[in-house]
Amino acid sequence: METKAVRSDQVSQREKENKELAYQIACEGIVLLENDGALPIRPGKIALFGAGSTYTIFGGSGSGEVKTRHNVNVLEGLKEAGFSISTEDWIERYDALWKKGKEKFIKDNQKKLLQFSARILADLLAAEYLYPSGDRISEEEIRDSKTDTCIYVVSRQSGEGHDRKDEKGNFRLDDIEIENIRLCASMYECFILVLNTGCIIDLSDLDQIKGINAIVYMGQAGMESGRALTAVLTGKETPSGKLALSWPMRYTDIPFHEDFGPYNKGPHVLYKEGIYVGYRYFETFDRSVRYPFGYGLSYTDFAIDEEKVTLDKTDIKVHLRVKNTGDRFGRQVVQVYASIPGGEAKRLVAFSKTGKLEAGEEEKMVLSFPISELSIYEEEKSETLIPSGEYILYVGTDVKSSKPLCILENRKQITLSKHQALCKPDKKICELKAPERETMADLERIDISDMRFETVQYDYSKRKEVFDEEVNGFLDRFKTEELAKYACGTGLFGENKGFKVPGAVGHSCTDHIDAGIPNVEFCDGPAGLRLQRRSAIDKKGKIKAIDASISLYEFLPRFLTKLLLADESSKDIVYQFVTGFPVAATIAQTWNAELVCKMGDAVGREMEEYGVTYWLAPALNIVRNPLCGRNYEYYSEDPFLSGKLAAAVCKGVQSHEGRRVTIKHFAVNNQETDRYTMSSDLDEKTLRQIYLKGFSIAVKEGRPKAVMSAYNKINGVYCANNKQLCTDILRKEWGFEGIVMTDWLSTGKDRADEAKCILSGVDLIMPGGKKVVQTIVEDVKNEKLDRTALQTSAGRFLSQILNQ
Ligand code: BGC
Repeated sequence: METKAVRSDQVSQREKENKELAYQIACEGIVLLENDGALPIRPGKIALFGAGSTYTIFGGSGSGEVKTRHNVNVLEGLKEAGFSISTEDWIERYDALWKKGKEKFIKDNQKKLLQFSARILADLLAAEYLYPSGDRISEEEIRDSKTDTCIYVVSRQSGEGHDRKDEKGNFRLDDIEIENIRLCASMYECFILVLNTGCIIDLSDLDQIKGINAIVYMGQAGMESGRALTAVLTGKETPSGKLALSWPMRYTDIPFHEDFGPYNKGPHVLYKEGIYVGYRYFETFDRSVRYPFGYGLSYTDFAIDEEKVTLDKTDIKVHLRVKNTGDRFGRQVVQVYASIPGGEAKRLVAFSKTGKLEAGEEEKMVLSFPISELSIYEEEKSETLIPSGEYILYVGTDVKSSKPLCILENRKQITLSKHQALCKPDKKICELKAPERETMADLERIDISDMRFETVQYDYSKRKEVFDEEVNGFLDRFKTEELAKYACGTGLFGENKGFKVPGAVGHSCTDHIDAGIPNVEFCDGPAGLRLQRRSAIDKKGKIKAIDASISLYEFLPRFLTKLLLADESSKDIVYQFVTGFPVAATIAQTWNAELVCKMGDAVGREMEEYGVTYWLAPALNIVRNPLCGRNYEYYSEDPFLSGKLAAAVCKGVQSHEGRRVTIKHFAVNNQETDRYTMSSDLDEKTLRQIYLKGFSIAVKEGRPKAVMSAYNKINGVYCANNKQLCTDILRKEWGFEGIVMTDWLSTGKDRADEAKCILSGVDLIMPGGKKVVQTIVEDVKNEKLDRTALQTSAGRFLSQILNQ
């Protein structure tokens, strides 16, 4: 077996550079939610409490876990910057509690694993340990800490396979946390609350607590978490992060919250709110939130002026000037929203971040967007169009406070494209209708009626895929079984020959390496590459992991881990040191596509170094509900922001020849409860305007080479068995030319059907393996699947392998 893992464990130049980038992204992704002037603070003696002080959560669990050389926790970050911690006692007590809890967690899961079943295995694959809150802080302890400054870090873990619950200690603070915060806030002069969570939590219990001077949403900020947090707290770096979702007062403020995940009854989840997801709901129906979408404070103040709107062919341009009017340096994110007649009160259509502005400095910017950003999908006619009417443009630094700038007036409806009705439910699902809105008489009006468009008529007819001579040669020569082997992977562990990336979760066929078809490796993300840190190579050249790459190993009986893992005293050890970037939810808070592209570039560089061909990222499902267990892996509740950031990642990674992204999970995969069987039921308008929009931006602008279909069904049809989704929309409408692979273990009993996958335009069934190959061969024999369709799938994958 060959590998590019290295024999030296020295820190490389690449590691240093990427770590610096992870730090920058973390700093820009941290959002300052509240500050009465207490921040920034100077290094000195402080009291530090809370689960995240030492057990800082750097990223989520499950396939999103990234194993790095070292992660900097909050305690370490603070100490490094010159803080001294006077609550070491509490921290030590917490440590003991944490370890006891973890032991119990492992024992309980070991017991569960004894009743071995696929369901239990899937459940445990990503079981997350919910951290204890620690014990009660006493007044005496506070007095003994001999400082007037306290930082309290609340942490929450979540991950694959489970949604969170609107319960204490989960989405809500628990009693100990509330009491501890109350006491600390009342006794310390300066009390700073830090939220180390992958998604938002309910903060309503804090409303009755006096004395909280600042709240910092740190998110899950990757390997440089502690360092980045400290830099923001001390003002070494300026807080410039903005929320990429709305922060409701409480869970029950989410429309139709009872129809979600753990609270939903039955396999169908009805998307009754339609397009009114997140701020689209709160703004259109005038509901208050704790913090609006796009919100985030700075240590300085900004003014936006000299705004002007111009038309340029089919683009609308907002010209403005951002001035730092405060007395410290800072950065600002300018956001442009538009109201849609009969639809959303506000829709994000453009955003841009300033560079670092010193006090008094200003920056001119032009925020440009194509007028098609104002379009809607009209279900009755199956058309994408810009309805006649008035579109109010708003400019500001969050959705709520953005100010009306002008009215774009469209006198006649503009049809952009004509479609076929696709992925339609059999009855109307959305139950909300936007209220009538008053016009704003005194705003400047700009006529957009004469902007010229060619209406696109999509062609859904069957087209024969064209491959080059080499690929055609293999396709003609291969027997059905050989074709089937290139229409799926070779199982979770791969085969014992060919090239190997330790830690890869998918592998391709190694049968024809001598004939010139190399095997390729698939590795997880999205917060970096999920690889094996240390592996041992035995005398026969076989590579075995030394460290467990996923937490599931913790629950296995010792004899099994001994069998699966190599000993660390092994003679021939190879290493892979990757970068743990912040999770996507924290990355999104940078609102900085350029920086996010650099992250993609950095990951691409690591892929090149270790020989990874497919990165199973970025993930850009919509954050529909704050309880979804995988929200931290996704960017935002807004498809425009999600799509732009995902496209930036794609460009960065794929700027490295032969390195490919796999955008996932396509599509409408917004909850973890019953993830293999549930159906997301929604109207076609909702599907296109919200849940597909980000994917379409990522495909058209980022040109990803691969797409991963989601586990769930859409309106009763498995995504992996959905030709309208995987072929008609993805390939025929958006022009996608890459491969579609299933999510892991999407097919089989009570899951998607293998033959239907291939017939729907899926090219790779992952992780595949012997059983899947056999099923496909049988399906061809029984004429359930025709050989030409199998050739098309295998051909698409082979073309990518051979043209790296
Ligand atoms: C996840 C995917 C992941 C795959 C491979 C699945 O359980 O849903 O996001 O890429 O596993 O690890």
